[in-house]
Amino acid sequence: MGMIEPGIKPANPRFSSGPCAKLPNFSLEMLADAPLGRSHRAAVGKEKLKAAIETTREVLGIPADYKIGIVPASDTGAYEMAMWNLLGERKVEMLAWESFGSGWVTDAVKQLKIDAEVKTADYGQIVDFATVDFNNDVCFTWNGTTSGVRLPSGDVIPADRAGLTLCDATSAAFAMDLPWDKLDVTTFSWQKVLGGEGAHGMLILSPRAVERLESYTPPWPLPKIFRLTKGGKLIDGIFTGATINTPSMLCVEDYLVALDWAKSKGGAAGMIARADANAQAVHDFVPRTIGSKTSPKIRRLGRTRPSASSSRMPVSKTAQHSPKPSLSASKRQVSHWMLAPIATRPLVCASGAAARLKRQMLRR
Ligand SMILES: Cc1ncc(COP(=O)(O)O)c(C=O)c1O
Repeated sequence: MGMIEPGIKPANPRFSSGPCAKLPNFSLEMLADAPLGRSHRAAVGKEKLKAAIETTREVLGIPADYKIGIVPASDTGAYEMAMWNLLGERKVEMLAWESFGSGWVTDAVKQLKIDAEVKTADYGQIVDFATVDFNNDVCFTWNGTTSGVRLPSGDVIPADRAGLTLCDATSAAFAMDLPWDKLDVTTFSWQKVLGGEGAHGMLILSPRAVERLESYTPPWPLPKIFRLTKGGKLIDGIFTGATINTPSMLCVEDYLVALDWAKSKGGAAGMIARADANAQAVHDFVPRTIGSKTSPKIRRLGRTRPSASSSRMPVSKTAQHSPKPSLSASKRQVSHWMLAPIATRPLVCASGAAARLKRQMLRR
């Protein structure tokens, strides 16, 4: 069957779950203060990197005793660095309900060859957290970017767990409330919610994660780019701005500008409200404008409120196998719609119904 082209197209095609659109009225001139041509180890470079770390802490409300590092290779680098350094000390549970979570399952099972307990749920569903034993190390993605299904809260994670929680929060940080006391490792990348640039990852460690790093040596080799300890001690410099290798100071400046913008909009609370409001605009728009002509999956968007989306999702039975969910073209298309709410920037559309959506979103 041939593809039917929509009659109305967005005036601004930058409507994506990542890399996300940049902040409103962004211009390269905003980055004029970037210390280009200077070393990241010069005072000016170190200051900028430290500011990126401490402003992240301030905006996201990360506890003072948590370590925050800027690491290579975006979220993927940060998450794999955590897996390679921390896993193997005890039993591991890998939870996946879309493609990114499945990628971490492949890492654990096929690359690290860990005999992990794998629990998966289909697209649109979430793993039954009641079956998870948090005395094991547990790896999961807070918001499954490609399915739009997220954890509703951290209530399912016990405060007195013996294992570590490793949370990929790439499309959750700055758009959803993250319970820091329930997260031992949290990672995200700048390219997502704040519309930053790729290549740099954020690695956030609880005191218990640091304790594990300093008391456990994994049996597999760690390349320089992954090493977080030296002589059994955390390399503290990584968490004060002395990065493992050379970062882009242009990207750092871009992140600082985005953080300042987030602060000016009410910080994390403002960003979350903005993401929820944008999601609501889409939820309202879909049934009114597209209605019965679309697939049930897209129509379901119109029936689901952003703040309760995942708690209303059907919960799958726990499966224990090595999954590799295939992502069909139609699912990809659905996920674009489902993920759009995550972007914190307004959507700009061409005319008619789409323009009404634009006006709604611009009002926020
Ligand atoms: C949940 C999740 N994890 C990981 C990634 C990979 O991020 P990056 O390309 O920044 O490494 C993405 C998106 O790109 C994502 O949405």
